Amino acid sequence: MSDKLKLTIKQAEAITLLKSKALHVLLYGGARSGKTVAFLMAILYRANRYPGSRHLIARWRYNHAKTSIWRESLLPMLKVHSEVGYELYESDPVHVVFDNGSEIWIGGFEDKERVEKLLGHEYATIMFNEVSQIGFEAVTLGMSRLAQTIKGLVNKAYYDCNPPSPLHWSHKLFIEKVDPVSGERLQQPDLYRHLRMNPSDNKENLPENYIRDILGALPDRARRRMRDGEWVKAEGVIYEHFQDSMIIPYDELPSMEYYSIGVDFGLNMAAVLYGWCGETLYLMDDHGTYNATTSTFNGQINALWGELIPHNVARYCDPSGGERLQEITNGEPANNAVDDGIDFLNTKMEHGEFRVTERASGFISEIGNYKRDEKERVVKIDDHYMDAGRYGAYSFQRPAGLGKQEQKHKPVAAGMRDMRF
Ligand SMILES: Nc1ncnc2c1ncn2[C@@H]1O[C@H](COP(=O)(O)OP(=O)(O)OP(=O)(O)O)[C@@H](O)[C@H]1O
Ligand SMILES: [Mg+2]
Repeated sequence: MSDKLKLTIKQAEAITLLKSKALHVLLYGGARSGKTVAFLMAILYRANRYPGSRHLIARWRYNHAKTSIWRESLLPMLKVHSEVGYELYESDPVHVVFDNGSEIWIGGFEDKERVEKLLGHEYATIMFNEVSQIGFEAVTLGMSRLAQTIKGLVNKAYYDCNPPSPLHWSHKLFIEKVDPVSGERLQQPDLYRHLRMNPSDNKENLPENYIRDILGALPDRARRRMRDGEWVKAEGVIYEHFQDSMIIPYDELPSMEYYSIGVDFGLNMAAVLYGWCGETLYLMDDHGTYNATTSTFNGQINALWGELIPHNVARYCDPSGGERLQEITNGEPANNAVDDGIDFLNTKMEHGEFRVTERASGFISEIGNYKRDEKERVVKIDDHYMDAGRYGAYSFQRPAGLGKQEQKHKPVAAGMRDMRF
């Protein structure tokens, strides 16, 4: 990239959207369609034009952000497009400081060591790159840092992705215009706008045969996603028997005989609550948090579900959690036989013995994207609720010879669900 980039027609449309009143903008669509370049141009303009402004570009994996955004996209663009002098800082986390005091930082939400540093600042722009891999909890926390005060500059959040399953939180937020956690209609839907950009919109900048021969040769679902920018379940999806019809309103839950809870540790912590009734397994609710302590998370789980379930219900936890298990009430190491756990849940789904309520928004958001790669390995991205779901289901043993857990399911106290942690 030695010449100045000339925006494609679609990119010009995207820039118009970024200049509108919308505070949150999602650019989604097929591969190589010019989404990232459009956002970077806008961020560079903001950094150049507004001295002292700070901008964060983050994806789930820091190293991916560094290779793709920093090296392949931002550095070449700075050289030809920055109207202000700048200095590059190549030690992690990489960033650029402009002569006018503005800064652009590159980050990753799974990056334990550096995330505190990134979240210790306030920003005027945050770009969530490839949001199909980022949990909504991390986005929510990131959003709380979109708080820099720069005169004349309106703070904005940018999101991009190759569209994941239509059950994903980004579809809920931008297309359906509902809050991904509560399921309620957005109060200010006009602040959320989106634009689909496809490779055909960027064909002047792509190799001649790319769309026809490379994207056109992909398997069906991958082609619809990567060439046509459609919201589809991933190719190689693990829970192949899961269907939308298994999602039920919370009010339709029967009385339960037993309960179990699965807990996944990490920067993203996730927990799911199961109820067992006859042969059917009900995923009643879930809860997740980003960058909190284990004891805080445990307190949240107890506040949400403690009154609903018997006090001795086991929390089957990520066995690699070590000492963190001791901070979870009734914490027990889960059975982490990945394939067996997946088979167990898939069989339940196949037999029509699995239901999940609309409240389990984290689990529902992940399930259509949870997949294996070409070598049949489980892709360990955006799988927090998937792991918690496996632990809570597969580790549970019906108490032999004992009566049912005494307490029956009763509705959660009013207002409980509105608690935001
Ligand atoms: N206006 C432009 N002029 C010249 N080249 C461009 C322009 N816009 C994008 N490109 C080039 O097209 C390619 C794809 O652009 P970009 O990375 O922005 O696409 P993307 O939609 O973010 O792709 P992906 O879905 O793979 O992340 C890159 O090589 C980029 O340099
Ligand atoms: Mg991109």
